[in-house]
Amino acid sequence: MKVLTIMGTAHRGNTRAVVDLFLKEFENSKNEFDEVVLPIDFNNICMGCANCILKGEENCPHYNEINKIIKKIENADLIILATPVFVGSCSGALKVFLDHLAYMWLVHRPKEEMFNKVGLIITSAGGSGVKNTVKLLKSNLFYWGVPTIYNYGVTTMKMGGNYVDYDKKDKIQKQVSKKAKKVKKALVKRKVGFKTKFFFKLFGMTQKNGWNKTDVDYWKEKGWLNGKKPY
Ligand SMILES: Cc1cc2nc3c(=O)[nH]c(=O)nc-3n(C[C@H](O)[C@H](O)[C@H](O)COP(=O)(O)O)c2cc1C
Repeated sequence: MKVLTIMGTAHRGNTRAVVDLFLKEFENSKNEFDEVVLPIDFNNICMGCANCILKGEENCPHYNEINKIIKKIENADLIILATPVFVGSCSGALKVFLDHLAYMWLVHRPKEEMFNKVGLIITSAGGSGVKNTVKLLKSNLFYWGVPTIYNYGVTTMKMGGNYVDYDKKDKIQKQVSKKAKKVKKALVKRKVGFKTKFFFKLFGMTQKNGWNKTDVDYWKEKGWLNGKKPY
């Protein structure tokens, strides 16, 4: 099994500590781990040209850099999106990365590999913002086509230091182990739920009279307008 972590921060603090606790839970000889650390591995801001959506993703000005990471996403079984909460949401580094993946939302050109994955969102906040951040990241994973998504957030009630190492390690460790068990189960029995099927059908109907030729051609080529499904 391949585990890909997309770290929304290069800071080695609370978020890193929680991610490491999770990764330990998945350590065994059969699992492979890969990681993308933002903004080190990708630091481009979306220019808003919409070339990816309208003309095809290879027309994105940052195609070479972003595509290397998308290939990693395609190959992963478990995708971990991790971020500290910054001003009530995910880090800017993660947001600008996510913006580059708009073309692969269900409403445009979802990748069939996505329907067989499990997602895990990890966040850490000083006080509030976990809920809002999880909601944003959940909608990204969901609209990429990832059918099963878990989340885990910690609230530190203070800034700086390493909360996870010193204050509440045992409690967090227990919660992480419990959540990791659920994720492992979901990876064994992968399922596509009603909500994903519903949105796939809905967007398929809109593609039948679609306004964007690049999307329509893609759905036709996949056979998805003739009853074929990516799951
Ligand atoms: C620029 C900045 C903005 C932040 N905004 C929030 C916020 O809106 N809500 C909150 O609860 N904590 C906020 N925090 C606190 C961090 O979310 C919290 O300390 C987190 O655990 C840091 O993660 P890290 O140690 O992985 O960097 C902010 C911290 C920084 C540096």
